Amino acid sequence: MIDIHAHILPGVDDGAKNWEQSLQMARMAVEDGITVMVATPHLFKGRAIDLGQLNDKEIILQHVAQLRHKLYAEKIPLEIIPGCDFPLGFESLKLLDDGRALTINDANRYLLLELPDTSLPPATEAICFHLQSKGITPIITHPERHLIIQEMPYKLKRLIDAGCLVQMTGNSLTGWFGRSVKKISQQFVKQGYVHLLATDAHDPKRRPPLLSQAVTELTRLVGEKRAQAMVKGIPGKIIAGEPCF
Ligand SMILES: [Fe+2]
Repeated sequence: MIDIHAHILPGVDDGAKNWEQSLQMARMAVEDGITVMVATPHLFKGRAIDLGQLNDKEIILQHVAQLRHKLYAEKIPLEIIPGCDFPLGFESLKLLDDGRALTINDANRYLLLELPDTSLPPATEAICFHLQSKGITPIITHPERHLIIQEMPYKLKRLIDAGCLVQMTGNSLTGWFGRSVKKISQQFVKQGYVHLLATDAHDPKRRPPLLSQAVTELTRLVGEKRAQAMVKGIPGKIIAGEPCF
């Protein structure tokens, strides 16, 4: 499987704390059947918009190179691809336009787009349009955990109709985030609002890099072919910078 959303790089955000934890996460992912992982630190280390805490392209690429080296030395068969968890906002958009923010695999074709936790700014559609005008498809991350979208799923449908893709967190489907998140996740999957599944792993315990149990649930809901596409075919095309459909 391919995991396109994981906070596996150490010390750059609220994900892995050190190299030991990164390697522990990598081992868990491999054991669970993940062969490729996109390392996607938050664009800003402390999550708040602060240029002094920017995880710019060079910082992420350096960490990815180091992690690849360590995985090779430890004989852990996990391929790491660079990426970034990009917060929706004009400030971050400016950084992307200036070439300082990393798209998935630095291909300028796909970007993980994280909505603010408790709001859905009116500028959301304009920002998505701006990205698309540059040839970048926004991937909305875990909308099933977003309070406003939970209340008003049509707002998500509008973004999908406008050309955005949707990534669900695997463990939302397993009940890890509670029954209401599980229920709305099942609903989104059945409505065809979900294009891919990822771990959004942050550490080995609280937010582990696991997908297989969620894929079992996904298979039950949409059948094996579609479930496999969401963890192999579609993320594979995203990494390659190719059209998904
Ligand atoms: Fe994330």
